[in-house]
Parts: sequence; structure tokens; C-alpha cells
Amino acid sequence: MLDEQAKKTMLRKIPHGLYICGVKEGDEVNGFTASWVMQASFQPPLVVNCVKQDSKSHAMIKASQVFALSILAAEQKELAQKFFKPQRRVGNKFEDVEFYLGETGCPIISDTLGYVECRVVGSVEQGDHTVFVGEVIAAGVHREGDPLLLESTGWQYGG
Ligand SMILES: Cc1cc2nc3c(=O)[nH]c(=O)nc-3n(C[C@H](O)[C@H](O)[C@H](O)COP(=O)(O)O)c2cc1C
Repeated sequence: MLDEQAKKTMLRKIPHGLYICGVKEGDEVNGFTASWVMQASFQPPLVVNCVKQDSKSHAMIKASQVFALSILAAEQKELAQKFFKPQRRVGNKFEDVEFYLGETGCPIISDTLGYVECRVVGSVEQGDHTVFVGEVIAAGVHREGDPLLLESTGWQYGG
């Protein structure tokens, strides 16, 4: 039998960064705070991004097959906090956040370390999150700095 407590304790020891995943569908844009993200291939450059199936962003990625990851800087906990609220509850999360649209049409947050933009090339829809495999088709550096790490925030997403 699975030791639930051990599973939770160990899974929470897997380190994560924090990102704003920008998404679009038609003319509409949205974004959410993501942590279950990692590189998955050098050639072609792939990343995996695990997205909660009942979120607005999930439906938008499924429809558009693109997403953009803005990499948060160590001091940007507040921005992460803004984007973990569901759009269906708080409305437009980009209202007072400066952003621009990338090659994919997804929103990229200007005041971040930089971004990668991805086109979805595969997905695994198991459990309560979908693993979207994205090929990195564009990237840019905004500025120097250390990334925001989930561990430094005191928040949990995992277990
Ligand atoms: C610390 C933290 C990390 C999160 N990481 C993820 C993640 O990796 N994938 C995901 O789908 N949701 C993640 N979330 C939850 C989403 O940010 C949340 O469901 C958001 O409200 C979705 O927004 P939407 O409904 O506007 O798409 C995380 C939340 C927190 C607080």
C-alpha cells in the first residue's frame, strides 16, 4: 500500500521554479502561475509544462496549442501571487501588468528575466493535470537576475 505521508513528503522535496505561463485563444489572453515545468530535450529543444485540467488556461492551450513561459525573478513573489488566482474568479489578470505578445501570440510579461515560447508537439492527459510537451520556437532575455524558486516562497504545490 502507498505510504501517503511519505509520498507527500518526498514529492515536496522535488525542487521547482516559478513561472507565469501566458496563454491565448483567438484574441483572448490569460496567464497562470506554473511550477511543474522542466526541460525535456536538447534537440529539438523541448519543455514539459503540466497544466491543471479544470483551469481556464488548460482549455486555452488545448485550443491554441501554444504557450509562453515568462521566467520570474527572485523578488517577484507578488506577481506569482496575482497569477495563481483563477481568471473565472478575478477576471483579466493582465489589466495592470505590462506585457507584449510574442511570436505565438501569447502574452509575455515585460518585467521578468526573459521567456521561452512553445508550440505544443504532444500531450499526456492523465490524472488531474495534462503534461503538455512544448517545442521552444522563440526565446528572449530581458535582464540578468536569479530566478524565483518555489522553495523560497514558503508555498507548496505538490505532494
Ligand atoms: C505555488 C503554485 C504553483 C502552481 N503551479 C501550477 C502548475 O505547475 N500547473 C498548473 O496548472 N497550475 C499551477 N498552479 C495553479 C494555477 O496557478 C491556478 O490553478 C490558476 O488559478 C489557474 O488560472 P486560470 O484558471 O486563469 O487558468 C500553481 C499554484 C500555486 C499557488
